[in-house]
Amino acid sequence: MTHKKSLSQEYEKHVADKLIKFDAGQWTALHELQTLLDELHIYREKLAQLKRWHWKSPPVTAWQGLYLFGDVGRGKSMLMEWLYAACELPKKRRVHFHVFMQEVHLFVHQHPNQNALPLLAKHIHDTTQLLCFDEFFINDIADAMLISQLFGVLFNEGVIIVITSNYHPDKLYPNGLQRESLLPFIDLLHAKTAIIELNGEQDYRLTKPIDTVTRYFYPLNAQTEIAISQYNTKAVFSFAELCDQPKGAQDYLKLAAQIDTLVLTHIPQLTPDKHNETRRFITLIDVLYEYKVMLICSAEVSIDELHIDKQHKHDFDRTRSRLIEMQSAQYLR
Ligand SMILES: Nc1ncnc2c1ncn2[C@@H]1O[C@H](COP(=O)(O)OP(=O)(O)OP(=O)(O)O)[C@@H](O)[C@H]1O
Ligand SMILES: [Mg+2]
Repeated sequence: MTHKKSLSQEYEKHVADKLIKFDAGQWTALHELQTLLDELHIYREKLAQLKRWHWKSPPVTAWQGLYLFGDVGRGKSMLMEWLYAACELPKKRRVHFHVFMQEVHLFVHQHPNQNALPLLAKHIHDTTQLLCFDEFFINDIADAMLISQLFGVLFNEGVIIVITSNYHPDKLYPNGLQRESLLPFIDLLHAKTAIIELNGEQDYRLTKPIDTVTRYFYPLNAQTEIAISQYNTKAVFSFAELCDQPKGAQDYLKLAAQIDTLVLTHIPQLTPDKHNETRRFITLIDVLYEYKVMLICSAEVSIDELHIDKQHKHDFDRTRSRLIEMQSAQYLR
């Protein structure tokens, strides 16, 4: 068998090549990731020797998963990506929260008269040994209840779940309606996953060299109109068209899958009265970022002034960080 590089060797190489800066928190987290990885590989070998293929409750130490949390741009998705790439299990999957929730809803919809969740859990268990779940958050208690049931079964069946989130489990769904119904799920995360904080000093996204051509234009004036009209693409939408209407992740996912470039015009300043519009805009940017769509914007104010509502502050930090990274040369490549 060829000897693969360990995650820390990979990390050291990235640092030596100046692709990343050494970050003590990431370094510590990597060792947890490596431990999980080693155990999975050992378990797989064992099963192979016994000529048994049924994957159930793998004897991985105390944890059946990892929960990486921290502020935006701290490298959570990067480390998860590395773990995912290094994992030699055949049945592995990395999925974004929005995409996963769409699938859950679709499945439930297609099985109206049955107890859909156990069926779905079985399907996932049959096809997935390692499930990497990027950008986990809760903003809907009904979704939370679905996820909670599903994760309960998946953990019991031995599926390994790795999560990244901007929220510590205890801080998920802050001030949400019926938050108390979320508590058993939070307990489940505590019981089953190693909770690891990544909180380097800076948002690494903001350290990227920004392309000299800006694609975020403000304020809304004739000059901005001209700048925007230079981009030759069919996908031109106003903020009102995409974010004032009752649209959701599903609509944005459909759109993002069809386009490389999106021109989004007339983004207003997101004041507290624009609660729903803000929520949709956050989702839209998450989806465009996930699908690596090039984004050109015209807006009333600068990225810094775009959001002045306390309510979505934490989530909007991610949006702001992304809007900036989406203009970097690296993102555009
Ligand atoms: N130690 C580092 N040095 C330099 N760049 C880094 C480092 N760690 C991560 N990055 C880069 O910073 C960017 C953001 O990282 P990543 O997407 O993993 O952050 P995140 O924690 O998942 O953020 P979010 O909460 O917004 O999802 C990536 O382009 C990544 O390559
Ligand atoms: Mg991330």
